[in-house]
Amino acid sequence: MDMEVTAWMSLYHVTNAHDDKRPFSKATLRRIWSFARPHKTRLTQYLVISVVVAVLAVATPVLAGRIVDAIVSGSSFDVVLGLAGLIAGIAVVEAALGLVSRWLSSSIGEDLILGLRTTVFDHVQRMPIAFFTRTRTGALVSRLNNDVIGAQRAFSDTLSGVVGNLVTLVLTLVVMIGLSWQITLLALVLLPVFVLPARRMGSRLARLEREAANHNATMSTQMTERFSAPGATLVKLFGRPEQESAEFATRARRVRDIGVRSAMVQTVFLTALTLVSALALSLVYGLGGFYALTGRLDAGSVVALALLLTRLYAPLTALAGARVEVMSALVSFERVFEVLDLKPLITEKSDATTVPDGPVAVEFENVRFTYPSADKVSLASLEEVAVLDNRGGVQVLHDVSFRAEPGQVVALVGSSGAGKSTIASLLPRLYDVDEGSVTLSGVDVRDLSAQSLRDTLGMVTQDGHLFHESIRSNLLLAQPGATEDELWDVLRRARLLDLVRALPDGLDTVVGERGYRLSGGERQRLTIARLLLAKPRVVILDEATAHLDSTSEAAVQAALAEALDGRTAVVIAHRLSTIRAADLILVVEDGRVVERGTHTDLLAAGGRYEELYRTQFAEEATVS
Ligand SMILES: Nc1ncnc2c1ncn2[C@@H]1O[C@H](COP(=O)(O)OP(=O)(O)OP(=O)(O)O)[C@@H](O)[C@H]1O
Ligand SMILES: [Mg+2]
Repeated sequence: MDMEVTAWMSLYHVTNAHDDKRPFSKATLRRIWSFARPHKTRLTQYLVISVVVAVLAVATPVLAGRIVDAIVSGSSFDVVLGLAGLIAGIAVVEAALGLVSRWLSSSIGEDLILGLRTTVFDHVQRMPIAFFTRTRTGALVSRLNNDVIGAQRAFSDTLSGVVGNLVTLVLTLVVMIGLSWQITLLALVLLPVFVLPARRMGSRLARLEREAANHNATMSTQMTERFSAPGATLVKLFGRPEQESAEFATRARRVRDIGVRSAMVQTVFLTALTLVSALALSLVYGLGGFYALTGRLDAGSVVALALLLTRLYAPLTALAGARVEVMSALVSFERVFEVLDLKPLITEKSDATTVPDGPVAVEFENVRFTYPSADKVSLASLEEVAVLDNRGGVQVLHDVSFRAEPGQVVALVGSSGAGKSTIASLLPRLYDVDEGSVTLSGVDVRDLSAQSLRDTLGMVTQDGHLFHESIRSNLLLAQPGATEDELWDVLRRARLLDLVRALPDGLDTVVGERGYRLSGGERQRLTIARLLLAKPRVVILDEATAHLDSTSEAAVQAALAEALDGRTAVVIAHRLSTIRAADLILVVEDGRVVERGTHTDLLAAGGRYEELYRTQFAEEATVS
């Protein structure tokens, strides 16, 4: 591998030789190489072909010079014909090799995209929930799309360019010097004129590129957020579409401006190059003509030198451009690596165990918890803030201890923001505790395999998320192998049978984004049906606070009863009926369990629970 790394390092030196404010580290290059390594064979073939093409490119002008000499010296027609035939042959071979090398470069490039994309996707999937609560989806999607493609450009467009052009450059120079060193020297006088600005332009373009990438990410963030059913609802309700459009347009305009500017920067540069090479050509013709007239050089050599000169400036132009492309491609690579470098906070142990068979006891012991600070879980550029807020988080849970015996239902009640959902999220390891422990049948959840944890726990969250897919596939998420009968059975138990039967497409009805095409109660019951299908041994239920009409309420109630039947359950209860059914009620306030007991005991005690009961549930009690 060392040879290839060296190749990359030389590229690094080409691109980084001067005044770069953001040097790219060797580590980054090694890492890029690790993605390219699997395509080593094709890369080598590609490089070999590039070298062959470069050699052929130098051969043609020399042969053309020979033809002129043959004409001038009055050789036989056969000689001229032979040389012309050779030129034709070279052209055909060049064309064929061009096709092969294009195939190689694009297939390597696309494979690289594939590798990067799947790696980023896998990695992001493993990130803790804390990451997703902070990250803007659009920004993340943009990394997966735009930056991955930007990174690939380094390979398919640039790598060959650099190697092939370097070879062409050196060969051309050698041949030219062989023909006439004086003319070669003269032709190169103008060289610094375009090599110097190339460097400056490189970093300028990279800066523009970075800014454009940020704007693109912001635009896709705005789109993914606003064009979702809840987002669009919000925009309509608050009635500020003009403002939204204006914001979007501002960013889009900025991207346009950058597009025009970078095109202009590049064009000015290219035009200057063309001009310089044309001027150099006139110098060659002038001096060469003078030498030829004074007999110091053949006419053929003048022609060869002129043709070689055009071939000299082409690779120089390409190399100067390559620098720019490599710069922006490296920016993209870095943006992708930035995401890959985020370490998942919550990982499975190598010697992870499983929950013992049989009914499961759930226990919290002196649990303290603080939501992780931004720098641990997030990237400023994905949150779209300049700097992450690194304030130490406020401790949310203090010394929470309780035990749910196998088959028991523990209800958590308390005011909004008390920490109930937080307690629930520690069970499936959406977050890990800071101190203390959460155990299932005596095994710490941190010692369990992710699979065992998933199989044991079933959670219905407050917002009851559904994917924008059919009812069937939303249910099958819980148990991919479920039969048609099982599906209808859980729908019946979740009190959804009539509804789904009445739908024209039945189980194949698409629920709409986040389930927005269902009512709140229906959505909840569908998530309960999903839970019933998974048959977890422990149920975690974050009851929605939304009040439903009494029919819907009764249906949800019945579905819940099915879900809790015979299972250990931790229920965040907002309904009196659920609370009454609990074996143990915990009153949570400010992250502490302030009271515990049964409904009757707690009412009799006349404390916080009694107060909650009077203010929140009394009305319900009189209705039911
Ligand atoms: N992802 C998060 N990052 C930081 N703080 C959070 C996060 N989620 C919740 N909090 C904070 O933790 C505290 C407890 O929140 P939690 O969601 O557990 O309340 P809750 O008891 O479930 O309330 P509700 O009854 O309204 O659902 C709140 O102060 C909240 O602001
Ligand atoms: Mg909550």
